[in-house]
Amino acid sequence: MSVDSSVGGIQSLVDEALVEIGGAESSRDIEQARVRFLGKKSALTKQLKRIGSLPTQERRAFGQAVNDAKQLLAEKIAERAVQLDRWEQDAALTSGWVDVSLAGRRAGTGCLHPVSRTIRRIHDIFRRLGFDVAEGPEIEDDYHNFEALNIPPDHPARAMHDTFYVEPGVVLRTHTSPVQIRYLKSHPPPIQVIAPGRVYRSDSDATHTPMFHQVEGLVIDKDIHLGHLKWTLETFLKAFFEREDIVLRLRPSYFPFTEPSVEVDVGWQDVGGRRVLGGDGDAPGHGWMELLGSGMVNRRVIEFAGLDPEQWQGFAFGVGVDRLAMLKYGMDDLRAFFDGDRRWLDHYGFSPFDQPTLSAGVGAKA
Ligand code: DAH
Repeated sequence: MSVDSSVGGIQSLVDEALVEIGGAESSRDIEQARVRFLGKKSALTKQLKRIGSLPTQERRAFGQAVNDAKQLLAEKIAERAVQLDRWEQDAALTSGWVDVSLAGRRAGTGCLHPVSRTIRRIHDIFRRLGFDVAEGPEIEDDYHNFEALNIPPDHPARAMHDTFYVEPGVVLRTHTSPVQIRYLKSHPPPIQVIAPGRVYRSDSDATHTPMFHQVEGLVIDKDIHLGHLKWTLETFLKAFFEREDIVLRLRPSYFPFTEPSVEVDVGWQDVGGRRVLGGDGDAPGHGWMELLGSGMVNRRVIEFAGLDPEQWQGFAFGVGVDRLAMLKYGMDDLRAFFDGDRRWLDHYGFSPFDQPTLSAGVGAKA
């Protein structure tokens, strides 16, 4: 397309513009050229405004010439802009090289820690048995942690607890048993409650960490006896381990807050060199594993809570959550639970959407 050179200085304007457009070296340059040669304040636009002052016979040719010039410049600018854009993209790709064949980074979705998963399972099972769930403070006073549980200041049982003291009379709770007292004082019987949570003891090896988890259980009602305790624990453990052949053995023991006290052992059998829970512990190739402490609530504890022990009795138990998790999921070092190693968590963690499944046969307590 040519521009009528007889009309004003249009051709020289176009020539000047074409040189500038051809010399533009970036998208910014070309955008500036576009504003300068085609914008509202451009020389061409000003020329167009002059049209009214021209003799009538010249107007048509002049208008045509300006429009042709505008169109020509618009085309050249667009062409150059595309070219520059491509160069710029090529330059960006060469300098910031991306290997599109590399595997992408997986978005880190979280997972449930095996301890949380285990506590959820325990909740689920005991809820079906009609139990309430309670919590208590981890910084506990001496009264709830010891005294009200029939462990007076000079009692030798205190030495077994390896207590962390926050200040005189205030401890990091050494067990979840103090929740028994708090719950008893705030809820009228009958009571069926479990209390899971963190507990602390100054102890550390492959099976002990200074912080670990327990679940306390407490039942207070009328005419409660050891048979109820055994049935409840057996029903819980069968559901938890998803095995019908769980057999328990109650062994006489001592805890200040229960009388009588029993240590509960669970039968295991040797399966290919591994101890698997289930089966009669007395049979050849079988054995017993100590699992938890329990007993009939000491009448002194019932009195401490302000109830009449002639009227109300019950049983209690305390079990290590981490220990249950280790047994269920086949883990052997408790310390790994709390190292926070992502590889361990990815391996043993559970999707939060993966709800615990329970074996059939766990009904409400008769
Ligand atoms: N509190 C005890 C401990 O940490 C466990 C325990 C034993 C809890 C017997 C109980 C119980 O409720 O009756 O070693």
